[in-house]
Amino acid sequence: MVPMKVMTMVMIYLFILSSLFIISSAKISGQPGVNYGELGNNLPTPTTSVPLIKNLNAKRVKIYDANPKILKALQNTGIQVSIMLPNELVTNVSSNQTLANQWIQSNVVPFYPKTLIRYLLVGNELISSTSNQTWPHIVPAMHRIKHSLTTFHLHKIKVGTPLAMDVLQTSFPPSNGTFRNDIALSVIKPMLEFLHATNSFFFIDVYPFFAWVSDPININLDYALFESKNITVKDSGTGLVYTNLFDQMVDAVYFAMERLGFPGIRIFIAETGWPNGGDLDQIGANIHNAATYNRNFVKKVTKKPPTGTPARPGSILPSFIFALYNENLKTGLGTERHFGLLYPNGSSIYKIDLSGKTPESKFKPLPPPRDYKGKAWCVVVEGANETAVVETLSHACSQGNQTCDSIQPGKPCFKPDSVVAHASYAFSSYWSQFRHLGGACNFNGLATQIAKDPSYGSCKYPSVTL
Ligand SMILES: *[C@@H]1O[C@H](CO)[C@@H](O)[C@H](O)[C@H]1NC(C)=O
Ligand SMILES: *[C@@H]1O[C@H](CO)[C@@H](O)[C@H](O)[C@H]1NC(C)=O
Ligand SMILES: *[C@@H]1O[C@H](CO)[C@@H](O)[C@H](O)[C@H]1NC(C)=O
Ligand SMILES: *[C@@H]1O[C@H](CO)[C@@H](O)[C@H](O)[C@H]1NC(C)=O
Ligand SMILES: *[C@@H]1O[C@H](CO)[C@@H](O)[C@H](O)[C@H]1NC(C)=O
Ligand SMILES: *[C@@H]1O[C@H](CO)[C@@H](O)[C@H](O)[C@H]1NC(C)=O
Ligand SMILES: *[C@@H]1O[C@H](CO)[C@@H](O)[C@H](O)[C@H]1NC(C)=O
Ligand SMILES: *[C@@H]1O[C@H](CO)[C@@H](O)[C@H](O)[C@H]1NC(C)=O
Repeated sequence: MVPMKVMTMVMIYLFILSSLFIISSAKISGQPGVNYGELGNNLPTPTTSVPLIKNLNAKRVKIYDANPKILKALQNTGIQVSIMLPNELVTNVSSNQTLANQWIQSNVVPFYPKTLIRYLLVGNELISSTSNQTWPHIVPAMHRIKHSLTTFHLHKIKVGTPLAMDVLQTSFPPSNGTFRNDIALSVIKPMLEFLHATNSFFFIDVYPFFAWVSDPININLDYALFESKNITVKDSGTGLVYTNLFDQMVDAVYFAMERLGFPGIRIFIAETGWPNGGDLDQIGANIHNAATYNRNFVKKVTKKPPTGTPARPGSILPSFIFALYNENLKTGLGTERHFGLLYPNGSSIYKIDLSGKTPESKFKPLPPPRDYKGKAWCVVVEGANETAVVETLSHACSQGNQTCDSIQPGKPCFKPDSVVAHASYAFSSYWSQFRHLGGACNFNGLATQIAKDPSYGSCKYPSVTL
């Protein structure tokens, strides 16, 4: 028989051991992972991509579906994986446990545990990308998915849903951070209750680039790039002092959660990054700034001990950088297609080491961060759908003054008499008249900006000057 006193000592010892275990197993790495988007028609296969991911020293990868080829390629790699339930299924899953179970059975069970699936995200930016009819189903779907995971004994997989900064109504100063009225009590509060009860994370996409680009006069670029040495922003509510825009944005989220009664939920940066290129008229989107932002971000989140943010000093901020590749099939402005760390051929756009262990001095000098200055034209993109171009051409011609006069029979730009040539003229003509009124060179993705004058002979294409 063990004397009582020794028994107590042993129990205390076991207790200490087990709490140590809990602490160490709960500790999450600050080393950023990478978002592996697949919206390109020229991207390497999953098996080719995995060595590239390892080369970046990414220890976690987030995908936007549950692509079995990717999950298979990631098995036995030691790389943690975040998978996603597609937006289209969220509403049905929210009211159908059988469907939730089926989804887990076919998309998770076959790959687990060889593939280290650790996060299951229910939809992507659902508040921003779906109608409000979907919103009431988000949290119920999260509960269903969590329930299925429990049924299959998949206890290591955290359930969350990534949101964008537009869930905030106010974000400045950070202590004023507040969720939007239309979602705070109906969606966000029950979501925070779920995340709290399951010890999961609030996943949020944080892009200082978009905040800066919306107000480049008042927001200093260096402040957005973690480069400012002397600019500080003091939060008048708390007295906290900010040295970069990212911290400000993250703290606005912390304060918004606190306002709803959940100060303790951890934040997971589901996406952050900076574009390495874009349309000619998009400012600040270049390799220099992309490398600067992402390298500084890595430095910040891998610092030991962790720095956290002014409102949560010392906290670890787990993250995924957006994105692995430049993705040529993404729609929208040119920057959307230029967030990659790698070109589609797998070569790096600039060197980066997500472990944070490569010192700055080991990187080659970057190209200067110049914005384009000069004339620009708006022409049909290569490979555009001609049927769509025809429709858009007549629409462009119906706008503005004499927009399409030069492409009429007998006029200087009539020949070559092709849809693409005529539409390129019409798009340039439209853009030159409407750009100052907010008109874009986009036409549903059929148009792109170029710096080379397409004029010939007596056919002169109208231009804009940037
Ligand atoms: C959702 O469920 C309805 C009714 O069962 C079905 O008609 C619809 O196709 C489902 N939607 C999806 C995306 O599976
Ligand atoms: C629930 O999902 C299952 C599996 O997809 C389907 O067979 C069933 O019809 C769905 N139930 C309802 C009520 O839609
Ligand atoms: C959903 O959006 C529609 C149209 O935007 C709006 O009229 C309606 O009030 C919204 N419903 C809720 C519950 O917010
Ligand atoms: C906080 O936000 C409110 C509402 O947007 C605004 O009126 C107020 O001025 C803000 N507080 C500070 C200190 O800026
Ligand atoms: C910060 O330093 C830069 C370069 O030394 C200088 O141009 C800028 O005016 C300074 N800004 C402030 C707010 O002191
Ligand atoms: C990869 O693509 C980039 C951009 O198109 C190009 O500059 C580079 O030379 C290519 N590298 C290789 C190895 O093909
Ligand atoms: C081309 O555009 C037309 C008209 O917008 C559309 O109906 C058609 O489906 C498109 N074709 C392809 C291959 O995308
Ligand atoms: C077209 O011409 C009219 C009259 O000169 C002018 O008021 C209008 O602003 C012009 N439209 C555009 C898009 O330039």
